[in-house]
Amino acid sequence: MFTKKIIIAIDGFSSCGKSTLAKRLATQLSYTFIDTGAMYRAITLYFLRNSVALSNQHAIEAALQNIELHFEINSTTKQSEIFLNGENVAHLIRELLVADKVSEVAAIKEVRHFAVAQQQVMGAKKGIVMDGRDIGTVVFPKAELKIFMTANPETRVLRRFDELYAINPHISIDEVRHNLELRDYIDSNRAESPLRQAEDARVLDNTHLDREQQFALVLEWVNHCLSN
Ligand code: DC
Repeated sequence: MFTKKIIIAIDGFSSCGKSTLAKRLATQLSYTFIDTGAMYRAITLYFLRNSVALSNQHAIEAALQNIELHFEINSTTKQSEIFLNGENVAHLIRELLVADKVSEVAAIKEVRHFAVAQQQVMGAKKGIVMDGRDIGTVVFPKAELKIFMTANPETRVLRRFDELYAINPHISIDEVRHNLELRDYIDSNRAESPLRQAEDARVLDNTHLDREQQFALVLEWVNHCLSN
């Protein structure tokens, strides 16, 4: 076993399977998994519930002061779940209402500063797998291993559709496609830390790779980092 602990940053487009890979990797290495998208989603839920106007900087700053986020491991499922001001919102943040607004909220400078500061504290002791859009570029630019995940857009639409259909059988594939295209666009084109590949990231295009193949490849990269 390796005693050295590293930071593994996983970035990429929506619905590339980042969280699935990150969770499995964290379990394998006995690392902490942090889903930063869940943080932006929980903030979005708070803004929706409290009708925070996204154009009102003062209202945003005031709202952020009232938000406390943390993760807890569910003792039954062993999955990490996000809490917003003490309430488990792990399921609520997956709804389309939140998905429709989250990119807009995640593009707000004050929101990003709030979330990034907390992510940096969470990862300070290393031994983490963190997934998001700006982990290797902004949150941990010195992460020992950076992975940039991507896949063909239609493959991602089908994956997201399967996920959402399980929660809401009324959802249409066009709705999912529209939401994904819009999120890709906003995430990649926002002024504040847009989604982009870090120069030193390893690219994982999983359009034609199954989960086992991806995992084997990433484990090779991890072992390479740990032994250097
Ligand atoms: O990974 P996800 O789909 O749960 O992310 C939700 C949204 O949050 C998505 O639009 C991108 C944004 N996000 C971000 O801007 N930065 C991160 N580190 C993580 C997510």
